[in-house]
Amino acid sequence: MNLADRYVVIGNPIAHSKSPQIHARFAEQTAQTMLYDHLLAPIDGFDITLKAFIASGGRGANVTVPFKLEAFHAATELSSRARAAGAVNTLKFNNDEIFGDNTDGVGLVRDIVQNAKKEIRGQRLLLLGAGGAARGVLHVLMAEKPLQIVIANRTPERAYELVEQFSSDSSLVMQASSFSDLEGSFDMVINATSASLASELPAIPTSVFRPQTFVYDMMYSSGPTLFMQLATSHGALVRDGLGMLVEQAAESFFIWRGVRPETATVYQWLRAQL
Ligand code: ATR
Repeated sequence: MNLADRYVVIGNPIAHSKSPQIHARFAEQTAQTMLYDHLLAPIDGFDITLKAFIASGGRGANVTVPFKLEAFHAATELSSRARAAGAVNTLKFNNDEIFGDNTDGVGLVRDIVQNAKKEIRGQRLLLLGAGGAARGVLHVLMAEKPLQIVIANRTPERAYELVEQFSSDSSLVMQASSFSDLEGSFDMVINATSASLASELPAIPTSVFRPQTFVYDMMYSSGPTLFMQLATSHGALVRDGLGMLVEQAAESFFIWRGVRPETATVYQWLRAQL
């Protein structure tokens, strides 16, 4: 009997996740025999849900909010990028081993560099936010060798902590800032805050934008996010996080299946569904 390998995306809530649709398209395209479903874990029940899925023969999982830290602790082996992020969004099971990786950073960088064709190398970059989303991508952004990274956060102490933690092993210029102390304009601005979930805007000075500043919002919605609308009104070029979603999924698929799916058509298909 040739049973399909099973994968899930674990989160709470999880019904909204587009990962099953994305992976179904990747599997079809690459002729991989696999199934990929949503798996809702109780807020206090990540470990037990994960163990039950592994015991039932599951081969791998994506992990999303609010369990990426718990997935990090559940892993018995970690990739260097998962270790740097302190969070795991991809798990692969092999006998007793639980391998944990984090594909968010590479998903973001691929969407910026390969899809949007914007160089990060040599650029002055502003990263907004100092929570899990910012931490998850920082190591991979740094590896692209921007000229400078300024991390600004509503609660500045968290930005200072992040800079202190990450700057020790890097020669690039890293600075932390409050929103109000931000000065001058940037080549690239990445919004890793969750402000738009509450239909809010990070209270940054709009002087950070200038015409042609490349602005990336890690969130996405059917139309431009509030943040993208603000940036556009100051002449910036904007992109939302849908491409990052597809690229991080493609990297997870590669980790599990050893095959790299084509992402452009899946991105276009997904965009049309929004
Ligand atoms: P995530 O995993 O999505 O990063 P998180 O760890 O809760 O979630 O972090 C949310 C980030 O969005 C934080 O940087 C938060 O700022 P604070 O550290 O000051 O809380 C930021 N954030 C959330 N709502 C915001 C808002 N309305 N304006 C600006 N920043 C906001």
